[in-house]
Amino acid sequence: MTVPSFTSAILDEYDRNPSQQERFEKIRTLVCPGSQEASARLAAETADLIRWRQESGEKVILGLATGSTPVPFYRELIRIHQEDGLSFHNVITFNLDEYYGLPRDHPESYYRFMHDQLFDHVDIPEDQIHIPDGTIPMEEVYDYCLGYEESIREAGGLDLQILGIGRTGHIGFNEPGSSADSITRMITLDRMTRQDAAADFMGVANVPRSAITMGVGTILEARRIVLMAWGSNKAEIVQEAVEGLMTDQISASFLQSHKNAVFLIDEAASTRLTRFRYPWLVGPVNWDAAMKRRAVVWLSKKLEKPILKLVDEDYNESGAGELLASTSEAAYEVNIDSFNRVQHTITGWPGGKPGADDTNRPERAIPFPKKVLIFSPEPADAFIGMGGTIERLKEQGHDVQIYFLTSGNLRVADVAALNFARVILEMAESLQAEGWENQVAYAQSILDALEEKGEFGVDPELVRKLKGLILRGETRDAASVCGLDADRISFLDLPFYEEGRYRRFQRSEKDTALIREVLADQCPDIIFATGDAGDPSSPQAICFAALAEAYQGLSDAEWQSGCNVWLHRGRDHAYEAQEIDMAVPMSPDQVDEKSNAIRKFLSTSDDTGEPERNREIAGEYDSLGLAEYEAIEAFQIWKG
Ligand code: GLP
Repeated sequence: MTVPSFTSAILDEYDRNPSQQERFEKIRTLVCPGSQEASARLAAETADLIRWRQESGEKVILGLATGSTPVPFYRELIRIHQEDGLSFHNVITFNLDEYYGLPRDHPESYYRFMHDQLFDHVDIPEDQIHIPDGTIPMEEVYDYCLGYEESIREAGGLDLQILGIGRTGHIGFNEPGSSADSITRMITLDRMTRQDAAADFMGVANVPRSAITMGVGTILEARRIVLMAWGSNKAEIVQEAVEGLMTDQISASFLQSHKNAVFLIDEAASTRLTRFRYPWLVGPVNWDAAMKRRAVVWLSKKLEKPILKLVDEDYNESGAGELLASTSEAAYEVNIDSFNRVQHTITGWPGGKPGADDTNRPERAIPFPKKVLIFSPEPADAFIGMGGTIERLKEQGHDVQIYFLTSGNLRVADVAALNFARVILEMAESLQAEGWENQVAYAQSILDALEEKGEFGVDPELVRKLKGLILRGETRDAASVCGLDADRISFLDLPFYEEGRYRRFQRSEKDTALIREVLADQCPDIIFATGDAGDPSSPQAICFAALAEAYQGLSDAEWQSGCNVWLHRGRDHAYEAQEIDMAVPMSPDQVDEKSNAIRKFLSTSDDTGEPERNREIAGEYDSLGLAEYEAIEAFQIWKG
């Protein structure tokens, strides 16, 4: 029996237009506007498959994945179960992997994750669920893994395998080096994989070093495979897996050899595919100014030649000859035009330069001063993405206000709360202070709560509150490095964050309402935000969705017609030169200041690579032939 095909308008379109994609893409890749829509489509198809098998009294064997990526898919399956009565009684599941050494009741075990996210909410019999056991003694692991393979075979093989993709290109936990015929086994986790799991485990040191995973060969035996990927941080690895060579360095690339594999991705994860990044290489394009600039920047980077030195032959020999032909301009004219466009993105006046001609500046000269609102999803985000720009806006006389949307308390290490409580206790003891009973009781309750929850348990509200306050102090310090006093910063503590944890947040109207209130009250001239292309389950993406909803809900407000929304890519994949609308240069001193601000976040172990990424953008501008700056903070205008 075959699995129903992924029938959809997109697929029809794909098949009608194969030359576009097939030229570079070696795996069928469907791009949906967002993760919700994509997940809903996959869930609907999975539900059809389950029902179809039910009609003939047969079982369905599903291979399931963990991570944030499949969460919206699982939520949708639960909804179909609850609202449309879909039963899971004929579903047998095999999960891809499990951390080694974690007991099942550990909050980060995949056993727990799958039960929280799916199994506890549907009617699947427990004995039809298979998840590798991370507590098997080392000497039994080999046989255990062979047994896992055998159970999949005995069940009839996987009908449908759901996958996410790690930034190392892994599927399951098949890290670089995994061969195409590898089977279920123990594997050592890559550094980047452990880094990506650090927030879940409250620090990279706590992330297990190994895992049990199905092999690439096990996965390739599935009759149908759907790999999902969301957000800009996945764009690069998706491109390599889909368009690159098949290699054991990127286990997802082995899906190229599978006849029935599909990548289902959102727009943010698709941006590195050739058809979107260099569309002129796959078909005719509309050579408007933006497209020309893209092509010219690409050519300059590819040939490692400054823009103004490109000649006609460079265009013709690199597949961009059509640009010159279509405009009947010589390379020289196209170069100058694009060079100027990139040049005009550079400004030391991110709030606009009062009294200056602003025809070619990213921001308007008036009004001056401007009411500038900066929305920072987690406290460090504003400083990571635009620490230098904040300082400039303040110095240049604008009315700057930062709204810290979430408390960020989940990032604060236990030791910070522990130290705080100990200081109180020691203080009380050394002063032999009377009247400190309440403080002592408070400190003791913090110590007790920390001990009770253990290293990885969920913080009770009392501890989260304290951690949030510790972070507030650090945030004030960071703001003051950027020249902002305490009255310039506000904390919204959005409820989705306070009530959730990483990968499991759920946004609600309460979050949007709080931001809407701020916007309606403040009537800003400029807004700075981030998270538009983030992993949809991240606090950054959730905050952005809430902000976008609040902003769009106020579209009738008069102030909005004169308001620009600038986006930065704090924690997400950095912009490339051709994508930047405003580039704010930084001097070496400003870079030091920015580092100082980020370093104030002592209680969290955030390492986003800033300001190194700012230096890289400056290097990119330099190699295009523009002025050489120490570093650049980059922004894009939000087009709503
Ligand atoms: C982990 C899992 C993978 C998953 C990957 C990506 O490594 N073992 O199965 O695909 O993370 O995670 P996320 O979906 O959270 O980006």
